[in-house]
Amino acid sequence: MNRDAPPDPRMEILFDAAEIASRIEQLAAEIADASFSDLLVIPILKGSFMFGADLLRALHATGLRPEVDFIFLSSYGKGTQSSGRVEVLREPEAGMKGRDVLIVDDILESGRTLAFAKDLMIARGAHRVATCVLLDKPVDRAVNIGADFRGFDCPDVFVVGYGMDLAHRYRELPYVGRIM
Ligand code: IMP
Ligand code: MG
Repeated sequence: MNRDAPPDPRMEILFDAAEIASRIEQLAAEIADASFSDLLVIPILKGSFMFGADLLRALHATGLRPEVDFIFLSSYGKGTQSSGRVEVLREPEAGMKGRDVLIVDDILESGRTLAFAKDLMIARGAHRVATCVLLDKPVDRAVNIGADFRGFDCPDVFVVGYGMDLAHRYRELPYVGRIM
């Protein structure tokens, strides 16, 4: 068995594991230079579990010692089209009053998810809220928001892998790909 072979013959790899790893090191350096104090990192589940884990290890390597909690949001359902409504499935437990918070997400598309998460942290009393996404799709945003830290520009196609799914499949892939 060729363990490096894509799991699906119609998979096109867009960002491979080595590219992702080296970009994450650069992102971690940018974040470390941004003078956060008493940083709380909040990856958005489920899609950013893998990016969040790798980013956190890279942040640790820069000397940062953030607190970590998670928020669980849902907007997609099972298909490839966002429902346009963001639901909170779980809120962070960590207190955020007066804190610096870094929200981490896999991909920025309509902007609804990131804007929703940012508004929620501000409503919970965060002092400074920054955002970091692995992928940024160049589409018309439903909400006018950009990410403070961005990994890659992503073509306007539905992508899977590295945490991102199609109906709960492909999340385990070490790369980001597109199904042709
Ligand atoms: P937004 O709210 O439209 O910006 O979409 C962001 C969320 O939708 C992300 O957290 C992803 O989980 C999901 N998403 C958007 N585009 C894709 C994609 O191409 N593949 C998988 N998930 C996506
Ligand atoms: Mg997501």
